[in-house]
Amino acid sequence: MRKKILELLKNNNDYVSGEFISNSLGVSRTAIWKHINTLKSEGYNIDGVSRKGYKLLSTPKEFTQEEIAILLKTNVLGQNLHLLDSVDSTNSYAKKLAFNNEPNGTLILSKEQKSGRGRFLRHWSSPKGGIWASLILRPHMEIKQAPKVTLIAAAALVNTLSYLDLDIKIKWPNDLLINDKKFCGILTEMSADMDGINYLILGFGINVNLNNSDFPTEIKDKGTSLLIEYGKEFDLTKLLCNYLFTFETMYENFLVTEDLTETIDIIKKYSYNIGKNIIVSSAHSSDSYYCIDLSSEGELIVRDSKNEIKTLNSGEISLKENYK
Ligand code: BTN
Repeated sequence: MRKKILELLKNNNDYVSGEFISNSLGVSRTAIWKHINTLKSEGYNIDGVSRKGYKLLSTPKEFTQEEIAILLKTNVLGQNLHLLDSVDSTNSYAKKLAFNNEPNGTLILSKEQKSGRGRFLRHWSSPKGGIWASLILRPHMEIKQAPKVTLIAAAALVNTLSYLDLDIKIKWPNDLLINDKKFCGILTEMSADMDGINYLILGFGINVNLNNSDFPTEIKDKGTSLLIEYGKEFDLTKLLCNYLFTFETMYENFLVTEDLTETIDIIKKYSYNIGKNIIVSSAHSSDSYYCIDLSSEGELIVRDSKNEIKTLNSGEISLKENYK
């Protein structure tokens, strides 16, 4: 009902009478008044004037269920939404839900995270002002295909932000950078058995409206945000909904065609590491390579110190020149 009231208010730039809303939606004016008060408490600035009605002056900066429902144009992703004020980690929360059979496409979104996680058990700082979210995905695909979903998610964010004049780079496989500093990280976790994938948790953290002072000292020189780089605040809900729509289009296309060409083309075009000397670190080792290319399957093609060509399907990259 609140979504419908908002849609009516959004479609009119002037005051809309309580009577008109009540007749259009078939509920009493008292009920409308109660819903309007709830919307106000969520941060909607609605002016109410007797004998004129209600006028929407502004929408909240923070996420609300209603605003997401209005702007989200996906078929499946995010249509089942858990919007939280605060959580330890949306990935951890999503895992519990997925284990209890929450459906494909469920989105867990939190205004902040207290123990956000990155790869290799790193802490991911997640104050208010960012997009901290996890999708539960139940794709019918072989286990070895799962890393491609991370690549699609990275490429989809580049596509989503392509209208901005920003020099975005993709650090294979899951980081997005601007000016050598990271503004987005993707953490894909999987539950699988001998029969295949049970579910994927696709977690993404996007530093959107974060100021320099929001970053912990130890990552100030490595992290950035869209606000810092673009100089303007973003509408979090619009950005999230556009991203989910773009990702869904690319992901569904991949599920149907198994063709990764669009994603590979984007990752190559915006690559941070192709044509560079890199260090690839995993839990147990760190090796130096020259990064030649990306394969059609999304693996990194590298040359080692003995001039042997190898393909890598996991690891964390640093440029040799920046490696400390
Ligand atoms: C990385 O760069 O190592 C990945 C960072 C992923 C952070 C996101 S924020 C939402 C989701 N919940 C988490 O705890 N982590 C991911």
